[in-house]
Amino acid sequence: MIKKLATFLTALLVLNTANIAKEGMWLPLLLKSLNESDMQTMGLKLTAEDIYNVNNSSLKDAIISFGGFCTGEIISNQGLILTNHHCGYGQIQYHSSVKNDYLTDGYWAKDFSEELPNAGLTATFIVRMEEVTDQVMDSVGVELTDEERERQIKKNIKRIGEEATEGTIYEAVIKPFFYGNQYFMYVTKTYKDVRLVGAPPSSIGKFGGDEDNWMWPRHTGDFSMFRIYAGADNEPAEYSEENVPYKAPRALKVSTKGVAKGDFTMVYGFPGRTQQYLTSYAVNQIKNIENPAMIDIRRTILDIMDRNMRQSDEVRIKYSAKYARVSNYWKKWIGENRGLDRLDAIEVKMEKEKTFQIAAMKSDNEAYELALPELKKLYEQLEDLALARDYFIEIAYRGLDIVSIARTFRADITDLSAGKEFDQAHIDGLRNRVKRFYKDYDRNLDKELFTKLMHKYGTEAPKKFMPDVVENVNGKYKGHYPAFTDMVYGKTIFDNKEEVLELLENYNKGAAKKLLKDPAYQVSESLWSNYLNNISPEYNRINDDIDKWSKIYVKGMQELLPGTYYPDANSTLRLAYGQVDTYEPRDAVKYDYFTTATGILEKYDPANKDFVLPADMIELINNKDFGGYAENDELHVCFISSNHTTGGNSGSPVLNANGELIGLNFDRNWEGTMSDIMYDPDQCRNIAVDARYILWVVDKYAGATRLIDEMELSHQSSKKIFPE
Ligand code: ARG
Ligand code: GLU
Repeated sequence: MIKKLATFLTALLVLNTANIAKEGMWLPLLLKSLNESDMQTMGLKLTAEDIYNVNNSSLKDAIISFGGFCTGEIISNQGLILTNHHCGYGQIQYHSSVKNDYLTDGYWAKDFSEELPNAGLTATFIVRMEEVTDQVMDSVGVELTDEERERQIKKNIKRIGEEATEGTIYEAVIKPFFYGNQYFMYVTKTYKDVRLVGAPPSSIGKFGGDEDNWMWPRHTGDFSMFRIYAGADNEPAEYSEENVPYKAPRALKVSTKGVAKGDFTMVYGFPGRTQQYLTSYAVNQIKNIENPAMIDIRRTILDIMDRNMRQSDEVRIKYSAKYARVSNYWKKWIGENRGLDRLDAIEVKMEKEKTFQIAAMKSDNEAYELALPELKKLYEQLEDLALARDYFIEIAYRGLDIVSIARTFRADITDLSAGKEFDQAHIDGLRNRVKRFYKDYDRNLDKELFTKLMHKYGTEAPKKFMPDVVENVNGKYKGHYPAFTDMVYGKTIFDNKEEVLELLENYNKGAAKKLLKDPAYQVSESLWSNYLNNISPEYNRINDDIDKWSKIYVKGMQELLPGTYYPDANSTLRLAYGQVDTYEPRDAVKYDYFTTATGILEKYDPANKDFVLPADMIELINNKDFGGYAENDELHVCFISSNHTTGGNSGSPVLNANGELIGLNFDRNWEGTMSDIMYDPDQCRNIAVDARYILWVVDKYAGATRLIDEMELSHQSSKKIFPE
């Protein structure tokens, strides 16, 4: 008995340290109490206060949310930002033209005056964070109905945020953690003039394209540089020529000494969404119902795009960004499902649930006892709705361009029908949108997509939630989708830019009539109203109940099952930590932790657009012209470490034990993509560009030495701190 207990305790201990060592996205505010000693044991040379501090300068002052969708960091005291190429892609593309093709050739501003403004792009700092659970739950009594509680919580959140930022230029974000068992407030400061400073050519920044995406070994220089501009008082200001480079009180030092296996690492950034506490019912639904359907829809889209893109350069250029977007999560879901399989994730969850249920029955807490059975029931109710929603989102909302453009006019129809005249600014806005849309549109490809995707929708989505349009095809067209498509594309104006622009010439009652009769508009209306009336209200209601019971379940776990719990990612600032590490994905295969420029040349393929290289780069590599950035005569390109990351962590700095930037996070390995649901310390790795490769590209390849001069480089040598 004693022996058994001892084994059990050791197992628990080992399990806990393994988890603490690598898994988790931690709240900067709680590092002191939860993680500091663990991190220092692993090699951290700093204190928790060096990483996050409200009163004194700390690393957090150099971390920004880049545009709200990526992370960036300040790497010079003149407000220079480092982030990914794929994060700045939209801006780089926006400034590109046939004559100045910055996507293909790269861009390097020679001085401040050449740094290019980007309307709408922001950089957000975290001023401070605090727990506000008690204030949020103030007057949220048990006697209230669910709706009343929600209303009171919303009211409280609004008031707390207003009070925290009154008389300041700050904003406050208050978010639930652990399904609303806790609330934290982040007070933020947002700069609104963020300019493009530099980007390598896509052959560096996107090297490997979709084929290498989510893959290790990797050779992508996925970085770009921006700069924050501020008013004369160094505070946020709308774009103005008068604005000056932001005087950054804190910038990350960039380390040139590289990394060794076992080195302590941290990733500081804004992970978007993880779901560690899902039940086995939920994981089953994702893995066996939702992911397969979405993977299949996207495969259909990608096949059609791919075939058309191969036939025409024009189509290829138009659809390359769309293809990359669709392909990104298509591939991710495939990897996620494989990873969940490999981990036996559903069975592991079921075991855990058994343990929980036993503890819950002993606890005498009725809510804990009910949580899992309730969640099981709710997921059964959700299944068809979730699937119907996936079909809507993947096909109607994101898949069919003609439906999206037709939908653009929905909001105006009532006004137009009532005889309202829109002002010129509104019409110009629409006109620009239309022009931008058709710049990347191909009628044949779109028509093929429409036939295939509508057929898929009509024959595969859950029957109970079919839109009218499907009945129409089944009736009038006897289920013959090509005939239906011919009718739509024969009559609609939306397959033709000129006709849509013409509609805007006489944007009046007549236009409304025309829109209402347009078959593409009618399809969009049918798909959307079906979603808004028949799918989303019930889907949301069930999900609210799921959240309610998840809150109880997670609280119960924290109370009844010992362990250190970290909250799911929710786009707030987090720190993950781990170490530089190799991994073994399958039998007889071992992956090293770094790649080199030699590997770039190995992958080089002039016949494959994703693996082409600039001639001058090949020459530099062949001549081993690596400046001071090589290690043992090799230029390191990317490396992997075991930090727990997710989408949104793109552009996050990978920091060493001293808090210096050693790499730029941009991806995860395919074998580890299930970490959004279940982390595996054996397989999960984040992928970063080695800081020295970034410096080499900027310095030796691009010759943008003025940027190197701005940075503070740290030459202090890397010591192996954590034993292998
Ligand atoms: N997989 C990375 C992320 O999730 C990179 C995506 C961009 N690159 C690409 N080839 N599509 O964002
Ligand atoms: N590329 C992802 C991003 O854009 C990061 C990769 C991941 O999901 O971990 O945030």
